[in-house]
Amino acid sequence: MKMKQVMAASLAAVMALAMTACGSDSSSNNSSSNDTTESKGTLIMATNAEFPPYEYHEGDAIVGIDAEIAQAIADKLGYELQIEDMAFESIIPAVTSGKASFGMAGMTIDEDRLLSVDFSDSYATGVQVVIVKEGSDITSVDDLFAEGANHTIGVQTGTTGDIYATGDIEEAGLGTIERFSKGADAVLALTQDKIDCVIIDNAPAKEFVAANEGLTILDSAYAEEDYAICFAKGSELTAEVNGALQELIADGTVQSIIDKYITAE
Ligand code: ARG
Repeated sequence: MKMKQVMAASLAAVMALAMTACGSDSSSNNSSSNDTTESKGTLIMATNAEFPPYEYHEGDAIVGIDAEIAQAIADKLGYELQIEDMAFESIIPAVTSGKASFGMAGMTIDEDRLLSVDFSDSYATGVQVVIVKEGSDITSVDDLFAEGANHTIGVQTGTTGDIYATGDIEEAGLGTIERFSKGADAVLALTQDKIDCVIIDNAPAKEFVAANEGLTILDSAYAEEDYAICFAKGSELTAEVNGALQELIADGTVQSIIDKYITAE
């Protein structure tokens, strides 16, 4: 299956090159994505590799669902892919300043973000969930908004969990938000009783709960979301990358990458 994908990607790259040959102004001719075609250049993906299974460190490499989908897109279009790890809240600035070609980080399509970036089609869904210690007095998401509630809630800085909790809870006088640079650090603080719960996406939540004793995810969800790739507003890359993404969704590649990392229950 790997082999087939590589061959399909090479073929697509040849076709993409043939179709865009006149428009291509690539400066990079010292590297090639495969034996038959020259690379069109390098796509720089901005991410925050603290978000398993979408992106995380494995030895020196950054791996995960987003890393694999991005590589498949780059292969299909005939680009090299370079992944840059940074703080989550630095991703959009990296994209809008042109330091990165796109941002891909399990990033939710959000009204405020749409003011500064464009998004691709969505390639996955996420759910904001609440992690608590087993036996916590927080037994449903509604407990966080109950009259007189006063919890300390951990989030990863700049994520939708942060944005929602800041508006719904902190600004409503119903608790305090503690912001961490990594979701794993928020979970660590929870295990140490420094905070009462963590609001984070369901896929990393499951991994963090599996890796730590005594934690559980509330049954009720906080919010449902769509993940997409972000681009500088008006970038010509948006249509090109989105076209490749749409093909990879249509031919089942995206789903098979997701299934490789997330086992359906
Ligand atoms: N889906 C959430 C958001 O868009 C969290 C994403 C966090 N991703 C990461 N790679 N740390 O805000």
